[in-house]
This record gives sequence, C-alpha cells and structure tokens, in this order.
Amino acid sequence: MGLDPPQPFANDRSTLVTDTSIPVRVPLVTEPWGILRSLQAARRNVLSIIPDIATRQPMVSGKTGKRWHMVMDPDAIRRVVLERLEDYPKSDVTKNLLRPAIGNSLFVAEGAHWRWQRRAAAPVFSHRNVTNLAPIMTRAAERSSERITAAGDRAVNYLDEMVTATFDVISDVTFSGDGSFDRDGVHRAIDAYIADAGKVSLFDILGLPDWIPRPSRVLSGKGLREMKRVADIAIERRAHEGTEGIPDLLDLLLQGVDPETKRQMNTAELRDNLLTFIVAGHETTALTLAWSLYLCAFDQDVQDRARAEAQSVLGDRAATGADVSNLPFIRSIVDEALRLYPPAALVSRTALAHDTLGGREIRPGDTVMLPIYALHRNYLLWDDPDAFRPDRWTGTKPDRYAYLPFGDGPRICIGASFALQEAVIILATLLARFRFRPVPGRDPKPVMILTLRPEGGVWLTAEPVGPGSRDTTADHSPNL
Ligand code: HEM
Repeated sequence: MGLDPPQPFANDRSTLVTDTSIPVRVPLVTEPWGILRSLQAARRNVLSIIPDIATRQPMVSGKTGKRWHMVMDPDAIRRVVLERLEDYPKSDVTKNLLRPAIGNSLFVAEGAHWRWQRRAAAPVFSHRNVTNLAPIMTRAAERSSERITAAGDRAVNYLDEMVTATFDVISDVTFSGDGSFDRDGVHRAIDAYIADAGKVSLFDILGLPDWIPRPSRVLSGKGLREMKRVADIAIERRAHEGTEGIPDLLDLLLQGVDPETKRQMNTAELRDNLLTFIVAGHETTALTLAWSLYLCAFDQDVQDRARAEAQSVLGDRAATGADVSNLPFIRSIVDEALRLYPPAALVSRTALAHDTLGGREIRPGDTVMLPIYALHRNYLLWDDPDAFRPDRWTGTKPDRYAYLPFGDGPRICIGASFALQEAVIILATLLARFRFRPVPGRDPKPVMILTLRPEGGVWLTAEPVGPGSRDTTADHSPNL
C-alpha cells in the first residue's frame, strides 16, 4: 500500500451514480483537493470527505490541520472499539456537539461516569423488556398503514412517514400515557437541533482550529430548553405517581441501579438519558425503514419474496414481537439496508496514546475515523459491495468487525435490539399490505449530515395488496 496524499479528499461530482442494476450511491472522491474546496463539499455531504480508495484499502491516512486516519481493517477496528477502548474515547467533536442536548449521558460520557450509567441502563433493554414494548410498535405500524391507505394512490414521502411512525414509538415508550407531553413541540425541537448540530460537526471533523467561527454554536435555543423542561416535569410526576401496565423506558430507567456502586440516576440524569434515547434512536430507525422501503421498491422481486413471507406469517393482522423470529427474509432486508445506508455512516475517535493500527503509526491527538459507509462497501470484505442482495445474510455471516451499523465493543448501541424489532414489525406489516413502487425521476440521494439521509425524500406509491385487496402487478403512473 502506497503513501496516501496528505490533502483532504472531496468530490466535485455532486450527482448520483446511476446504474440501473445497483441502488443509489454517492461517487466517492478519487482526487485530493485543497482544504477550502473540501470544506465546501463536506458541508453539503460528509460522505464527500471519504476517498474512493477507502473502499479498496484497509487504511487511509492524511493531515488536514490534524492528522487523521480512516480505518477499514476489521482487526484494527476491533482494537479501537474493544481492546484499547480507553485509548480511543469518542472525539471531542461528538461530545461538544451532543452535550447541549443530552448532557453527559450514556452516549457521550467516558470512563467511570459512562460505566455506571451503562450498568444501570442495561436492564432497560433486556430481551424481556424490549419484547414487552412490542405492542407499542405494532400500534405504530397499524397507524402508519392507516395513513398510507388514506393517501390512496398519491405518491408519499416515506422518509416523513417513517419519521412519524418511529416518533410515535419513541414518544410512547419514553413518556407513555402522559397527556401533558407536547409531542409536536419536542419533535420540532429535536429536528431543529439535529439540523444545527450537523453543520457544526463538519468543521470539527476536519480539524480546523477553534478560532474559526462555527456556524451555530448557539445550540441551546428555546426549543431545547422547552424540551428539557417538559421532560423534567414528566419524570418528577412519574417518580411520585408511578404508572400502571407494562413499564415503559422511563419506568425502567427509574428502577435502574448500578449493581456495583448502587448509584441511581437523579432527575437531570434520567432526563438526559431519555433525551439521548430519543435523539439516538428515533431518526436512525426511521432512516433504516425509509431506506428499506426504497430498496424494496427498487427491487420488486425482493419485495415479492418479502411480501410472501410477511403474508404467510401475518395473514391480515399487523406484526407482533412474537412474529419477529419468523420473518428472517424481512430481517435480511433490514440488515442489508443498514449495510448500504448505515445511519451512523462515520464514527470518530480521538487517540490518547501512541499505537499502531493496520501498520500505521497513531500519535496522541490523531483523529481516528471509522467510515462505516466505506467499510460496508469495501471490496476486500464484500462480494459485489454496491449491490442490494439480502440473500448474502442467509449464508455465512461476514466478519463481525466488517459490519458495524451499531458500532461494537462495550460502547455498542444499547438500543440495537429495540431498533431491529421495531424495524421488522413495521416493515413486515407494511409489505404484507402494500406494493410499493418508485416514482420515476425522484431517486433519493444519500447525504450525510449527522446521519445518512435520503436527500429529496423517499417518494413511493403504495397499492393495497393485503387479503381482500386486489393484488395487481400492472404498472400504473403515480399521481403526484
Ligand atoms: C437503526 C437504529 C440505530 C442505529 C443505526 C444506531 C447506531 C448506533 C451506533 C453506531 C452507536 C455507537 C456510536 C459510537 O460508537 O460512536 C450507538 C450508540 C448508542 N445508541 Fe444507537 N442506534 C440505533 C438505535 C438506537 C435506539 C433505538 C436507541 C435507544 C432507544 C439507541 C441508543 C443509543 C445509545 C444510548 C448509545 C450509546 C451507548 C454507549 O455509549 O454506551 N440507539 N448507536
């Protein structure tokens, strides 16, 4: 492997790569660019700082103000996220970005403060508790399918639809049954925050000095304050009054105790962690579902097979938690969507100690990036990496550290099984009831701001196909 050019990479061609046999992707850059040009491109799409060679090599290094490395070598990744966890804390970028919204919660904390919170929160996401929350996901799937039916043969943006469906779930499992909870207000505050936070990160990822003004350091706006206030009130009330029925995430977190230190979360810690669950869990799951639907509309044969599985298991009812293990093909579609369009497409760490990764020297202060997007499309690790092939998940599984939509090691996503259960329940329910078709000329563009989103939306038409409906495969023009 030769020496990499020291300049950052960026991409001139903001257009999509369109090849009718593969789903949408963004052309990664093949030539090194100057810093300002890179910055401009990166502001539009973080993926444009990933060079194309990152899909063909195990490591890429460079210097843009700071020294940086992109790691695609599974053994080196294991070292970063598992074996030398303490030497590779989350980067300051990530922490500065998220702290205004979610304090020093599970997602951003390090060392002992992270460990006790993780131990206290772990039981919240136990298999039993996640399964108990499945009825809320089933209800959200039912409501989503009612909205789709109501839309008739109009084309719908399924990114928005899935954001609505997953917000239904996350607000019901965090502040369930709380009539005073201002759903729309909280939703707006989170959306605005995520949009703002995305702009800041690009500057920091590229290692620009601190004196360069950031576009919106003022992230602690009115919406955010309101969101925290609403959450605090709900927590205080719940702590005194309790709830009936199946415990939701707030009940479970209130009961959480670190078995080692016996520490329990106070109101501010509970609030920061609940908001973390909302920020980390809601949009990511919506993206997984929106990309899965895009892929099913892209490949009608896969969609037919998925529908056959869903209908044979479900008949005309919505999917439940008990169905999930009987829907392996639907699950493969979700796995494949998370491979091609991982919501957390670039994860970054700051090296604290001298080390060697993939034969490269790592110095304290270096930025170590795990470009999950390039890892999942790396030719050394995947056969025909840009192709949509859910069947690749039925045979031999890939190297564990070649597939990291949820990260790995002790800091692996705590909500992974919750998210997968939700995605399978909603996707199976919708595929059993509707045939989705793309709207010609409206392909989404994969753009990463804070997460990897389908820019332009996922525009599809849906035709009812459930038992009792007419299942026709005849083409019909969408009605925009
Ligand atoms: C498809 C959906 C999701 C994806 C792709 C995803 C992805 C990730 C990734 C990649 C990480 C590790 C980040 C890193 O190592 O820097 C992470 C951590 C985390 N996620 Fe998720 N996530 C999803 C859903 C959820 C849900 C539903 C929740 C909670 C309800 C959640 C809560 C968290 C928390 C609290 C952490 C921090 C864990 C720790 O550091 O101990 N996520 N997630």
